[in-house]
Amino acid sequence: MAKIGLFFGTTTGKTESVAEMIQKEFGGESVVKLHNIIDVEASEFEDYQYVIIGCPTWNIGELQSDWEGFFPELDNIDFHGKKVAYFGTGDQVGYADNFQDAIGILEEKISDLGGTTVGYWPTDGYDFNESKALRNGKFVGLAIDEDNQSDLTNERVKAWVAQLKKEFGL
Ligand SMILES: Cc1cc2nc3c(=O)[nH]c(=O)nc-3n(C[C@H](O)[C@H](O)[C@H](O)COP(=O)(O)O)c2cc1C
Repeated sequence: MAKIGLFFGTTTGKTESVAEMIQKEFGGESVVKLHNIIDVEASEFEDYQYVIIGCPTWNIGELQSDWEGFFPELDNIDFHGKKVAYFGTGDQVGYADNFQDAIGILEEKISDLGGTTVGYWPTDGYDFNESKALRNGKFVGLAIDEDNQSDLTNERVKAWVAQLKKEFGL
């Protein structure tokens, strides 16, 4: 049984690709199980003490549509005792006033439900105006921009996974 459950939504496949990179970097499917949120029931979160949430921002500051559909279900999950990390994909050039908003929206909700956030990520190397994903000057999780900085994705994923291994205590 994988220790970490990674729950992602995707519309055009970019967030799924990043999810697969994260899984590989952790050591494969024996460590990280991928769940597309379109197929998930709330009870599936009960299997994991370590959770990774992946969501792109769509439609100017909104959750990806499958996450939008699942959002009310979050109220049925007890996140107390769970360490939760977030990653998003977004477009800092096209949507500079709403870059990565979705992971900020999800983190606010899930931390209200008892989740402990890990995996904060610095804003160095990004150029945007505003984001709901900021807490004390950092992103709430890994910010990936496949639209403008795909050349940086691999190194960002590697560094973040190394950080998470420590913060999860694995
Ligand atoms: C119509 C449209 C709206 C978007 N809105 C935002 C946005 O508000 N903020 C952001 O950071 N990215 C935005 N994006 C960029 C997507 O989040 C980005 O392309 C993402 O990687 C798509 O992920 P997916 O392929 O997993 O669905 C938008 C893209 C489109 C086409």
